[in-house]
Amino acid sequence: GRVIVTIDGVAASGKSSVASGVARALGVPYVSSGLLYRAATLLALEAGAPLEGARALLTHLRAHPLRLEALPGGNRLWAGERELTDELHSTRVDQGVSAVAALPEVRAWVDAQLRALPEPFVAEGRDMGTNVFPHADAKFYLTASPRVRAERRAQERPEDVPAIEAALIERDRRDRVQSAPAPDARVIDTGPLSLEGVIGTILAALPA
Ligand code: CDP
Repeated sequence: GRVIVTIDGVAASGKSSVASGVARALGVPYVSSGLLYRAATLLALEAGAPLEGARALLTHLRAHPLRLEALPGGNRLWAGERELTDELHSTRVDQGVSAVAALPEVRAWVDAQLRALPEPFVAEGRDMGTNVFPHADAKFYLTASPRVRAERRAQERPEDVPAIEAALIERDRRDRVQSAPAPDARVIDTGPLSLEGVIGTILAALPA
């Protein structure tokens, strides 16, 4: 089997919804790498470990193995019997995740989890087409202006649009090292497109 599609992009560019729609059209699962970074962040916050303390965090992850359940309609994240999924999109996880994701040990841990998943699937994140699955058949990178992304995310967060926009710009800045389009990725500005429009653009661009 092969990874068929990677969908990377900036924060709140619609990657999860787009990846889910593309995966459903293809009849394969999609994989949200961000959920693993978010789960590592949540556990670090709960353990009281300093976010910069990679060693303490990784010890914790070894003691509490996580499981990413890559269902076609949405991903679920488990720590043993406890489901973390609904706790992974809080504002405090949003604020802490970039620092945790910048730790090389954490990135290696996530990459190993992703590479162990049975292919094929649609993989979604920041570095799927560059680092994790450079052999993918088709690669996409989603962008949109900070204001457009903040307006979308305001449907899912308690803060107002200007506060969300400021937080997105800050997260873009911190994520810059771990987020770049692959040279062979097709960049799609999702600003003028509906969700169905983005999914359709990707499906139309896939190799026959
Ligand atoms: O949906 P949104 O783009 O806001 O977040 P996400 O895709 O769940 O990713 C959350 C965070 O995880 C990002 O801000 C990055 O810091 C990190 N991440 C990463 O470094 N590499 C990935 N492949 C995916 C996520």
